[in-house]
Amino acid sequence: MSSLPPRSSRLPGFYRLAVAERRRGLLEASGLPADGFAALDPGALSTEAADGMIENVVGTYALPFAVAVNFTVDGIDAWIPMAIEEPSVVAAASNGAQMTRPRGFSTRVSSPVMIGQIQITQVIDLDAAAAAVRDAADALVAEARLLVPRLAQRGGGPVALEVRVLARSGPDGGVLVVHLLVDCRDAMGANLVNSLCESLADRVAKIAGGQPGLRILSNLTDGRTVTVSCSIADAQLAPGDPNVPGAAITGAEVRRSIAAASRFAELDPYRAATHNKGIMNGVDAVLVATGQDWRAVEAGAHAYAARTGAYRPLAVWWEREGGLDGELVMPLAVGTVGGALHVHPGARLALDLAGAGTAERLAALCGAAGLATNLAALRALATEGIQRGHMALHARGLARAAGATGDLVDRVAAELAEAGDIKLEHAREVLARLRNPRVKDRP
Ligand code: MEV
Repeated sequence: MSSLPPRSSRLPGFYRLAVAERRRGLLEASGLPADGFAALDPGALSTEAADGMIENVVGTYALPFAVAVNFTVDGIDAWIPMAIEEPSVVAAASNGAQMTRPRGFSTRVSSPVMIGQIQITQVIDLDAAAAAVRDAADALVAEARLLVPRLAQRGGGPVALEVRVLARSGPDGGVLVVHLLVDCRDAMGANLVNSLCESLADRVAKIAGGQPGLRILSNLTDGRTVTVSCSIADAQLAPGDPNVPGAAITGAEVRRSIAAASRFAELDPYRAATHNKGIMNGVDAVLVATGQDWRAVEAGAHAYAARTGAYRPLAVWWEREGGLDGELVMPLAVGTVGGALHVHPGARLALDLAGAGTAERLAALCGAAGLATNLAALRALATEGIQRGHMALHARGLARAAGATGDLVDRVAAELAEAGDIKLEHAREVLARLRNPRVKDRP
């Protein structure tokens, strides 16, 4: 199915609905076929299909699949599909996105250029070898383009070749690495880039007078980045719920605390790692839902964060008069064709729900999700701390696990939270009492 037209991401009270009602609402709003969500139901990824995806299959493994709301990205509303086991990430993304409204997130996505590496060892005269490969660069790129004629017709394909000297001596002699830059269009491109590197390696080694070594893409895709920014007025930062501890804090104070939290991450790699984890909460959840290679994006993100020699935050926040500005820059190699998308029905549905018809749009949505979860985490940390929200969600989960449905979920959860005793056994007791007021809780 092609991607769907834009629709409102403002779905007030969505989180209160039953799963069937949420599905019905999304079906109506999206124009998905009536059985659209069957792609997520048990058995949708058949054991046979799974067996064809990886080795030694003994079953399939499910995760909760949800939709984060309130996102406007480059002026277009979007539902953000997320698959993740951690409570509070979907809520955090939706809250973060809510604060950025009405403008939402603005993004710039670079060309989808991946780097393939060809390692050449035992080079005798490194400078002469580097010069010879540089002289042959245009011819090598042209030759490589002939190997991917359809991609070249679509405006992609190999675009440049660069040479770096890695070592002048050592166990492998002189070592060169040649980077083949490939515009992968809507594909993530790993197979494509690896094949091209394997095809060119012998020729490059001959030109350099050395031995071909590794031929593989780099996951530090610093030529394939997304930049996401947002700007939030103080009024949006103030805690909305007057019952929340610390609700007296003003928007301007929250703004100052978030900027201070950002500086903390800029100064300290221990904090930067956790700050970036909060970003990857949002990014990874979208990557998993849409069938992407999230390990590749994780590897690239952290290598990029450390590219100056110090590990730094991928997103930073700073104050301006009356508000807060934030920006995330990170490598994001994603695809809307190929990979798991051919076989995984849930991944296809996720792309359709997100309206992500191109890799560029998908990268923009992933980045927006990351900046949203980062913002929500910093705001919670800057005000009441994150545990109250986590515990409230945990209490709702336990209420459901105890068998509560409908409005009993909120009533049981509220009692658990108030008593500060958030355990399954307690949830069962409270539920039994609410269903039958003559039942007494344990003393
Ligand atoms: C938890 O999954 C993520 C946070 O630790 C992120 C952060 O500290 O910024 C809350």
